[in-house]
Parts: sequence; C-alpha cells; structure tokens
Amino acid sequence: MKVLSFGSLNFDHVYQMDHFVMPKETTSSLSYSRGFGGKGLNQSIALAKSGLDVYHAGRVGFDGQPFIDYLQEYGVKVDYLKKDEETATGHAIIQVSHSENCIILYGGSNQLIDEAQIDEVLTHFEKGDLLLIQNEISSLTYLITKAHENGLRIAFNTAPMDEKIFSYPLELVDIFVVNEVEGKGLANVSSDQVEDVIVGLQKAYPNKEIILTVGSQGSYYISGETVIHQEAYRVNAVDTTAAGDTFTGFYLASILRGETVSNALSIAAKASSITVTKEGAAKSIPTLEQVLESMKNV
Ligand code: RIB
Repeated sequence: MKVLSFGSLNFDHVYQMDHFVMPKETTSSLSYSRGFGGKGLNQSIALAKSGLDVYHAGRVGFDGQPFIDYLQEYGVKVDYLKKDEETATGHAIIQVSHSENCIILYGGSNQLIDEAQIDEVLTHFEKGDLLLIQNEISSLTYLITKAHENGLRIAFNTAPMDEKIFSYPLELVDIFVVNEVEGKGLANVSSDQVEDVIVGLQKAYPNKEIILTVGSQGSYYISGETVIHQEAYRVNAVDTTAAGDTFTGFYLASILRGETVSNALSIAAKASSITVTKEGAAKSIPTLEQVLESMKNV
C-alpha cells in the first residue's frame, strides 16, 4: 500500500505581532522569518517524520527547487511534484500573536494543478492506496472522483474551510479530518457545542470516519455510533501554525502502522502539542521518536 499526499506547498512569511493588524492600521512586526509550509507539504512532512513512506504530488513554481530539496531531506518522494517555470510557488503571510495566527494565502502554482497532472500521477497508484488531500489546491473535484474510481481510499483534511468544499463529491471521501469550525460547517449545525457538532456529523456522514479536533478540548474519532475521545496535552503554546497538519499526518501514519484508534489519537495529540511549542510550520513538526519519548514523560 502506498501513500499519496497531493497538496499545497507555500513559502510561509511569518510575522510575530503584538496584535493582529487592524483595518486602517499600519503596524510594525516584532520579528520576521521565512519557512516551508503549505498544508500539503506540512502533512507530507508529518507523515514522513512519523516513519511512513510518502509520495508528495503537487506543483511548485520557478522558485520551487528548495521545496523539492526540503521534502527529499525528510525522505518524501517527489517523483510526482511538478515544476511550473511560468509561475511563482504559493505563499502564505502569517501573523502570529500570543500563539494564535491568521493567514493570508496566495495560491500561485498550487492552483495550476489540472486534470492532466492528476491523470498522470494516479497511473502510479492502485486500489487500496491512500490519498491525503487538503483544500489548498485546484481540481479537487476531479482528483477525488478519479482517485475513488481507481479504488484509492481518500482522507480529506478540509482546511481551509470555504464554500468550495460543498461542491466537492464528499460522498466519495472515506476519512474526514476537521477542526471545530470545519466540523460545524460540514455538519451544518449552528451550535458551538461539541456534542451538537458530533451528533450533526453522525447524522450527515453516518458511514464515514471523522476525526474532529477541538483545541484544548482534545479530539474525537467518530464513526457511526462509535465516538472515542482523546484529551489534549497541556503545553505553553508559542505558535499553533501546523498543529492540525501535524495531527493529521501522525494520526493517519499511526493507523497505517497498525495502532488502535485510541493510540493513534494519543500519538497525534502529543505530536501536535510539541508542534505548538515551536515557531513555524514544517520545521516545528517533531519526529516519531521525539513524540514517543515525550509520551514516556507524561
Ligand atoms: O496549516 C498551516 C499552513 O497553512 C501554513 O504552513 C500555510 O502555508 C497555510 O497553508
């Protein structure tokens, strides 16, 4: 069984802020750094750092060679990562203030993924392989449809949530990974109560596996009537960027390694609790060894 992570790659421009910039305001940042990110790349790095063989498919621009080198450094296979000489790679402008973030995306080459690229990539995968996607690339309807036709299992981290999500053939997805906002949107419930979101997801997607992360309230596995809860690990967060990506990668990798759902949730929760103690996206994701070592100290 092979794992295909088909997703975005962004240069992250990260500004530490006293407060998020307001309308009509011009304000100075406290510091600036640049790093590798994109929900797709972060999740590929998380899968690789948790010990899995992973293929990353996607599209970088003329400035994208550093992404190829970076993924390879962590053992991610880049055979299906295409370089577009006419376009810039996507980027994100990230303000971080008191550990929270807000993000502006510029899709760049992530939005040039087309049916021809998807068809070519999928020729290298077969029934039973796992496809992991997020909502930061183009042609997702086609990708989901074709991957399903070819018998791949599909895991969809619905971040970032927008109205496009509802135009995708969600009935073909096998596993959803959502946070509380995305879960509420998918379930189409108005209540903010976790219990109501869970019931809404059970009703809307009775035959799917759903991982719901709810920050300090931990995470849930939902499948039909089965609900498994995992507490969050308490830490002093400095930057929550890539916490959800880390969780997604470590959860899926743990399940594929044969861990129980409870153990997979626990490993993923621990991994993302380490990510938030460090600044940045991909560079803040721990290795499986670091996660397991840290779990011994609980
Ligand atoms: O999930 C964090 C990621 O969101 C950042 O790395 C940024 O690039 C955006 O895609």
